[in-house]
Amino acid sequence: MNSPLDYAEKHRKDFIEDLSKLVAIPSVSFPGFPPETVEKSAAAVAELLKARGLENVEILRVPDAHPYVYADWLHAPGRPTVLLYAHHDVQPAGREEKWKTPPFVATEKDGRLWGRGTADDKAGVIVHTSAIASWLRAEGKLPLNVKVMIEGEEEIGSGHLESFLQKYAKKLAADFIVLTDTSNYDVGVPSITTALRGLVSMDVEVRTADHPLHSGMWGGPLPDPALALSKMLASLVDDEGRIAIPGIYKNVRPLTKLERKSLESLRYSDKDFRAQAQVLPGVDLVGGKASPLEKMWRLPSVSVNAIQVSSRKDCANIINESAWAHVGLRLVPDMDAKAAVKALQDHLRKHAPWGVKVSFSNAHGSPAWLVDPEGPAFEAAARAMTEGFGREAVFIGSGGSIPFVGPFGKVLGAPALLIGVEDPYTNPHSENESLHLGDFHKSIRSAILLYRELGKLPAKAARRAAPRAAVAA
Ligand code: BES
Ligand code: MN
Ligand code: MN
Repeated sequence: MNSPLDYAEKHRKDFIEDLSKLVAIPSVSFPGFPPETVEKSAAAVAELLKARGLENVEILRVPDAHPYVYADWLHAPGRPTVLLYAHHDVQPAGREEKWKTPPFVATEKDGRLWGRGTADDKAGVIVHTSAIASWLRAEGKLPLNVKVMIEGEEEIGSGHLESFLQKYAKKLAADFIVLTDTSNYDVGVPSITTALRGLVSMDVEVRTADHPLHSGMWGGPLPDPALALSKMLASLVDDEGRIAIPGIYKNVRPLTKLERKSLESLRYSDKDFRAQAQVLPGVDLVGGKASPLEKMWRLPSVSVNAIQVSSRKDCANIINESAWAHVGLRLVPDMDAKAAVKALQDHLRKHAPWGVKVSFSNAHGSPAWLVDPEGPAFEAAARAMTEGFGREAVFIGSGGSIPFVGPFGKVLGAPALLIGVEDPYTNPHSENESLHLGDFHKSIRSAILLYRELGKLPAKAARRAAPRAAVAA
């Protein structure tokens, strides 16, 4: 089978063009950014799905959620059905002045495409549309039935996924799910992700007075909320940077012998971590003795994503009346999300000094996800990726979170294949996000081959033999 791959080869530039058009729409889903732009990107995605040959294109809605886009091609009777997932919303651009190219103008340089969403996750959308177009233009048909679902609220935690699945589970019924929203182990190394961390996050606010007070007139007796919050946040970790919330490691599922062996076989060292994350020289790595991969993939971690007390611009000789922070706690298998929210809040409250008023808001939680990559679907994915990249595919864990995966797989009763186009240098969520164009093309080739491989599996038998996704409580 050459022609869909030939088509993809000839249309490399066109696929980058498709991607660039989506990047030009700043579809930030965060509150405070214009929701019309997410609407606009949903409309653009819908139009693209139609233009690349999909049918029954539809914007799917549930109240108060950003729009999802659906389309299908269901003309392969007797063949299985694959559901393809990506998300069209993006993170905010961050600090404008830190970008070397304009965030919403996709710019090609050094073999990469720079811009917000070039990788996370508009590349995911284009991998699907390009692989589908390659089949339809070259062969006039696809080797299996295809449904496409593009989410609009992934970057804000998929808060409506339950009502969405309730409403649309029937429409989305499939034998396999393919999500294109993860990272490869390294540039050029095709990777299938079998573990995601969960995430608990919340705002915490400390208040001590009605309004800011002159720090000379009032300083001394008055408790400083910034110092109080600092003490509370500092209490989250011990001197080695391990999480100090009592019992937090209690339910963490240990690695099996086999898992430990396969993790060690990757030979990923502290030095590799430093190089990839570009940690400044002399700065320690924290979190105890475990290897960096175990810390990222199979241990919880805590981070303070933002702190606000006054601002650089308004910084004056004052004692502020309040201080605010956003805290995130990544979860691993067997940690309970609700219990983690409570443990985090209890701990912060307990370490609040001087009777300061503590309040929490916007608490969210979603559990980790882990799958045993066995069965014909995973074998098909490994074959397709190995051929598409010209290099042996690997199974990896990941420290990131995709709240949709667990409930999605469970409701549809279908195995989830997580394959993505990011790499360690992509900088998602940071300024100067970029996509490796060589890997982008190889991902499209792999998707073309994956449809062929999945299409060979008998629809129902493939489903029965597939492993059940283990959703941590
Ligand atoms: N694509 C990422 C998740 C990801 C990245 C998984 C790399 C595996 C490897 C996704 O867009 C993301 O950022 N998810 C959020 C989820 C959160 C809002 C609940 C995350 O991980 O912070
Ligand atoms: Mn993503
Ligand atoms: Mn993301």
